[in-house]
Amino acid sequence: MCGIVGYCGPKAASQVLIEGLKRLEYRGYDSAGVCILKDSGFKVIRRTGKIRNLQEALGDGEAGNCGIGHTRWATHGEVTEENAHPHTDGNSEFAIVHNGIIENYQMLKDDLEHKGRVFRSSTDSEVIAHLLAEHYRDSLEQALRDIIPLLKGTYGIAAVTSREPGKIIGARNGSPLVIGIGEGEMFLASDVTAVLAYTKQVVYLNDGEMVCITSDEYRTCDVHDRIIKKQVELVEWELEAIEKQGFKSFMEKEIYEQVDSVQRACQGRINPEAATGHLGGLNMLPGELREIERIRVIAAGTSYHAGMIGCYLLEKVARIPSFAELSSEVRYKNPVIEPHSLYFAVSQSGETADTLYAMRELQRKGAKVLGLCNVIGSTIARESDGGVYLHSGPEIAVASTKAFTSQLTIFYILTLLFARMKHYSLEDGLKFIEALESVPGHLQTILDRAHQVEALAKKYAGFKDFLFLGRGINYPVALEGALKLKEISYIHAEGYSAAEIKHGPIALINEQTPSLFIVPDDHLRDKIISNMKEVKARRGKLIALAVEGDYGVADIADDTLFVPRAHELIYPFLMVVPLQLFAYYCALELGCNVDQPRNLAKSVTVE
Ligand code: F6R
Repeated sequence: MCGIVGYCGPKAASQVLIEGLKRLEYRGYDSAGVCILKDSGFKVIRRTGKIRNLQEALGDGEAGNCGIGHTRWATHGEVTEENAHPHTDGNSEFAIVHNGIIENYQMLKDDLEHKGRVFRSSTDSEVIAHLLAEHYRDSLEQALRDIIPLLKGTYGIAAVTSREPGKIIGARNGSPLVIGIGEGEMFLASDVTAVLAYTKQVVYLNDGEMVCITSDEYRTCDVHDRIIKKQVELVEWELEAIEKQGFKSFMEKEIYEQVDSVQRACQGRINPEAATGHLGGLNMLPGELREIERIRVIAAGTSYHAGMIGCYLLEKVARIPSFAELSSEVRYKNPVIEPHSLYFAVSQSGETADTLYAMRELQRKGAKVLGLCNVIGSTIARESDGGVYLHSGPEIAVASTKAFTSQLTIFYILTLLFARMKHYSLEDGLKFIEALESVPGHLQTILDRAHQVEALAKKYAGFKDFLFLGRGINYPVALEGALKLKEISYIHAEGYSAAEIKHGPIALINEQTPSLFIVPDDHLRDKIISNMKEVKARRGKLIALAVEGDYGVADIADDTLFVPRAHELIYPFLMVVPLQLFAYYCALELGCNVDQPRNLAKSVTVE
């Protein structure tokens, strides 16, 4: 989604802003712009397309040590230079960048046009710049404070005025803002990655808070100008973590990182002596955990698929009725909070609007919601009633890969924890731990054979439609495989339970629609083989993801990829990585931009 960066300090603002905007590129955007404050007035430069275009337009840079920049992901108005941010009041006195959506902008715009204000864009954001001009007396901070009650919707705003050079005012409601504290310089950004090259000391703003930064200080307050003392936090991520480090793309790097990230997600969270899990962040006593009678997961996209697998495990192994739901659906269904229920909001970014709003709705009704997030200090992480960090390091590629396997890891540990409180013996627990700890080694084996997946992708990338089919704990893996393929290669793919195809999707089967079957050697193997035969009988092409040595499956399939033989519960890890690689290589084969697929954004902060 959109990204904000602001700078006040001794450096050339244009260079710092371009650097910051490049770091935000991964979030997805279609145009970008900067506003540089000068001794007299300011200069706004905007371009559609890559940050490179903006950088070229800036040339050697504009003189000026304070400015704001933005990457836009269009919501209101097409992708044009006029619609790109920063937006101004038309007199080059006030400029703003805005993330979020101003829902009542049309009414505000009509009103401002009646007052003679001329609008140059079709965005909702431009009203903010005009409102500031209308309300300004002698303080930008006060003007922003005055207009906030007029704005309905969500926003992260950074505003400047030529009347107060060297100063940036920010306000947050539903769209993240973070202050970066440097030595003799200050930053304001929507995402820590934009400032990580300069400082690791940050302050996260909450909804309803405002900030004023100059090169040597920041001041945080609420909308009534009451000072708010904020805690300075240290970002754990290293700069290298947001660089490609020799890989062709972030997605490739993140797929390969999974050997380590799964291990990291386990670190300090397994107690081998008691053969159980240890998740301190849950903030729950053993007695409270023992009282839990049902678990609900809310999430979107890939995180939802991880939640489905988590729920399958929790129910099957820990014997707790568990159910994953799309957060976008939960918010508006007026959910009933059952007693002794525990909710998990699962989100890599911790900023997904659908999940955040659903979580707030559940909390409003008295639910206890724990967060399962990757981004430290993210809104869901801060607003949840406790939770667990994935510690997978920054995930930059739009398509989620390593966060998925880390989310699974946490669900496995959670399952172990609950199972050991109930019916699991010490021996059962030890076997479960052994299985989980074998995952990184198996992933390494799979990654060492990536060339086999590449060859398969080269053979199949020309097909226009795919079915991904799995059952049981691997049914959500089929959904995830289909999602990965469609989002980065734009090949149409549907994920289904293999059992379900006879209820409709089998009508799609022909020689042009390959079916990729996930076939672990578990209790459902023979049933899946029957489903494969149903497809074969209709001349459908068959790709199988099977377990090493399972020639019974390979004999039926047109092509087979093997994964190592393992404990049946851990196959979701082993099956999903070849599917990530398959999507990745298909996208490369088709010449797609794997890190920034069209129309998509990394962190979806609008509903
Ligand atoms: C798919 C993908 C998305 C996200 C979804 C939720 O590769 O990345 O489907 O999983 O937008 O995002 P988070 O996990 O940040 O809440």
